Amino acid sequence: MRVYIIGAGVIGRTHARAAYKIFPELELRAADLNPHALKGFCEEYPEAVAFNDVQEMLNSESPLDDDIVIVSTPPFAHFNPTKAALQSGRHVLCEKPLAMNLSQANEMVHIAEENKRLLGCCSVRFKGMPHMETVKEVLLSGALGEIYHVTFVNKRARSRSGIEYQAESPWFLDSAKSGGGVLMDWGPYDFATLLDILKPDNIDVSSAWIAKPATDADPDDKPFNVETHAGSMMTFYGSSQSVHIHYERASCAHGEEYVKVEIEGTSGSVRWTPFDSRQPVFLRYDRQGQAIEKEVETGPKSEFTIFDNPLLHFSRKVSGLKSYANVNQSALDHFHCIEAVYAAAKTGQKQTITLNRPEYVT
Ligand SMILES: NC(=O)c1ccc[n+]([C@@H]2O[C@H](COP(=O)([O-])OP(=O)(O)OC[C@H]3O[C@@H](n4cnc5c(N)ncnc54)[C@H](O)[C@@H]3O)[C@@H](O)[C@H]2O)c1
Repeated sequence: MRVYIIGAGVIGRTHARAAYKIFPELELRAADLNPHALKGFCEEYPEAVAFNDVQEMLNSESPLDDDIVIVSTPPFAHFNPTKAALQSGRHVLCEKPLAMNLSQANEMVHIAEENKRLLGCCSVRFKGMPHMETVKEVLLSGALGEIYHVTFVNKRARSRSGIEYQAESPWFLDSAKSGGGVLMDWGPYDFATLLDILKPDNIDVSSAWIAKPATDADPDDKPFNVETHAGSMMTFYGSSQSVHIHYERASCAHGEEYVKVEIEGTSGSVRWTPFDSRQPVFLRYDRQGQAIEKEVETGPKSEFTIFDNPLLHFSRKVSGLKSYANVNQSALDHFHCIEAVYAAAKTGQKQTITLNRPEYVT
């Protein structure tokens, strides 16, 4: 199996580790414009063939039908390498957010379709984890009755990418390079999760806001113009239900830090921690007028983790196997949601999204 990594930074190295775990026989190639990053990568993966030019790597050999290129550069550098890799006849797994904006993401999918290749997005990193599947089983069982409300809040006091987290990558703070702040950084996971679990056909984003709370640690020697706190009120419409969602995501806020993700129905509720699979899943319901809470058993842990999932899911899709990957049109769905939240925040107008009849989970 051949895997080509474009962008040998933090997450490029994580993908390399996953590739060695997933594929018993791996031929690894890597390209990065930064010789220092490439050198560090090669020290960690000495068997990798390294290139300082992306096109040179893609031209170095004829494509095989199952070749996978992983684009793990910052968002401003997703489009060109993805285009080149798709046009070289290879499937592409691109890091989240898929692109700088929806029109660029649409064009990337168009190029994939034109070249009859698959384009996947790493927004599916948390899909298929046992605790997520347990929540889906609870919903399917009907134990919650009619579902009417979801709280989806992940609020951290100080964990800004580019400041408190991974300070060596200041591009996170510059919208010209990242496309946006915490919504672009974490929204792909949030919306991939919400769509996977609730499976709406259409979404209304009724209202939204973004903010950038100030701190004494704010840098003044480099661009810092992205939001670090965002929220919205949405309604997800499905064939049999409409669910109201309170969504909030912060990497910096002056309010209390907390995580609360809960789905409420007329007969019960389920609460879990989507991005920490070590935390339990709780079911709450009524018995004889009393509120009861019990922990729900989750399935056995897999040898694969969130660090392996994007490549694991995508490679299964490339091989035509059952998979949690979102590819081509369905890889765009989370991006429609992010753009709609930004648009509602900017205009104050309700935004409506019709989803691409995604392949959710096959
Ligand atoms: N860091 C994380 O924890 C993390 C987790 C999940 C996803 N991601 C996503 O992965 C992507 C990369 O993030 P990162 O944290 O690894 O960044 P990083 O700054 O650690 O590394 C990015 C690398 O890309 C290289 N690069 C930039 N432009 C290039 C180009 N045109 N061609 C080849 N190489 C180029 C840089 O030299 C650098 O080595 C982003 O989209 C990010 O949102 C990051």
